[in-house]
Amino acid sequence: MKPVILINFKTYESGAGHRALEIAKIADRVAKEKGVNIILAVQAADIRMISDAVSIPVYAQHIDPIEPGSHTGWTLAEDVKEAGVEGTLINHSEHRMEIDQIEKAIDIAKEEGMKTVACAPDAEVAEAISVFEPDFIAVEPPELIAGNISVSEARPQLITKTIEMVRKMNSNIPVLVGAGVKKSADVSKALELGASGVLLSSGVMKSKDPEKEMLELIEGLKR
Ligand code: G3P
Repeated sequence: MKPVILINFKTYESGAGHRALEIAKIADRVAKEKGVNIILAVQAADIRMISDAVSIPVYAQHIDPIEPGSHTGWTLAEDVKEAGVEGTLINHSEHRMEIDQIEKAIDIAKEEGMKTVACAPDAEVAEAISVFEPDFIAVEPPELIAGNISVSEARPQLITKTIEMVRKMNSNIPVLVGAGVKKSADVSKALELGASGVLLSSGVMKSKDPEKEMLELIEGLKR
C-alpha cells in the first residue's frame, strides 16, 4: 500500500466552505501530479461539495454510534456516506469517544462500506481498539497536536511501540502517526519507523502556501 498522507481540515477557518474547497482542489492536483496517496478529512457540511470536486478520498472527521432515528445534531454514517465520503476518522483526540462507542461506530461504518481510521492517544489504547479491526489505527500524542515538534522527532518509541502492539493483535492493520508533522523529515522518519503514513493538519491548514507545504511533506514519501 502506498504511504498515506491524511490532511485533517479540522475546524480551521481555511478548512471551511469555499476556502476548504480551494485546499481540497490543490491536494487533488498534487496527489495526481505526484502520484501520492492523499486523503482529506473535511467538515460534515463540506463533504458533498468537496467530494463532488475531487477524485481523492474524502473522509468524515467523525461519525456518531447511532442508527437513523430521533437524534439531534449528531452525525449519521449513512448520511455522510450518501454525501460522498469513502471513510471516517473515529475517536480523534479532539472528539474522544468511550470504547464501546468506538466499537459501535466502527461496526456502523463497516456496514455502510466506509473505511475507518480509529485514533488513539497512546499505544495501549491503539492495541485495545485494534480488536475492532478498523482499516487504520492512527496514534497521536495529544500534547504534540498543533505544535512544531513532531511525533517522529519527540516520540519515536511511541511509533515503534504502537506498531509492535497493534501488529501483535492484528498484523493487517496499518498504523498512521500524527501530531506536529510539518517537515518532510517528519514524514520520512515515521515511515522509517514502520508507519504506513501520517495524519496532519496545522502545517497545511495554517500555511500561507498550502501547496508548498504539501510538496514539502510528500518529499518525505520518497526518501
Ligand atoms: O488529525 C491530525 C491532527 O490531529 C494533527 O494535527 O496540527 O499537529 O498536524 P497537527
